[in-house]
Amino acid sequence: MGALRTDFHPTMRKPIIAANWKMHKTPPETEDFLRDFLVLAQSGESVDIVIAPPFISLSAALAMITNRDHVRVSAQNMHFEPSGAYTGEISPLMLRTMHVSYVILGHSERRSIFGETDALINKKVLAAHHYHLKPILCVGETLEERDAGKLEEVLTTQLTGSLASVTADQMVGTVIAYEPVWAIGTGRTATAAQAQEAHALVRRIITGLYDPETARRVRIQYGGSVKPGNMGELMAQPDVDGALVGGASLESGSFWEIVRAAAEANTVKLSAPILPAGN
Ligand code: 13P
Repeated sequence: MGALRTDFHPTMRKPIIAANWKMHKTPPETEDFLRDFLVLAQSGESVDIVIAPPFISLSAALAMITNRDHVRVSAQNMHFEPSGAYTGEISPLMLRTMHVSYVILGHSERRSIFGETDALINKKVLAAHHYHLKPILCVGETLEERDAGKLEEVLTTQLTGSLASVTADQMVGTVIAYEPVWAIGTGRTATAAQAQEAHALVRRIITGLYDPETARRVRIQYGGSVKPGNMGELMAQPDVDGALVGGASLESGSFWEIVRAAAEANTVKLSAPILPAGN
């Protein structure tokens, strides 16, 4: 086995694979999935696994996942206030009281369908940290923005706005999900090179907002048509630390294949030899 690479520090970043079920799975369907998945995932400790069911299925997921440190439960959204007259909303305090660990914030579907702005998402990120929930903050460009050469501008605006007043310590506890909008639910995955380029850009922007050490420690997931067949190649990229999976996470076997592919690719990445400076 070669010496560990020094141009990045993958050992500091444990892979994190999350299932975003979106508006799928009732409580009984959640139990069915987890009954199968938890048998498969008994030995998944090298990867953090996160399951994000709809609100009404959180209790079912939490009841089945108790005492398994490597599998955690996430919400898909929340309000930023702890309580109040916000009909139809769920608060960070409620999620924390249930022992939910993560919350997905600023997903492109929340931005485009429900009109969420970076300013609103920022309030939610700050509230999540206040209540000790780990945010999975989603960013990503549309195809029009990419084609217009605006990738860097879009990511800079989204990250700067969503992370305002977030401290460096909180930043390290924030997971970023880079999800190019054109790759979500389309079957059109970003190539490994496109994903690496965008992830390196995200890390550079975080370096600018914080410092290189903080940026090196932040985990950045890729999302958008991730499947068992493309996870390994994506995970092999130096700045890809996991995935946020939609459609392919709805079936326990395929989600487990994705977790395994990520774990295997990460093992190879950890043993990569030191590269000469500049490579
Ligand atoms: P798909 O994996 O279905 O493309 O969805 C990606 C996504 O939006 C995860 O949050």
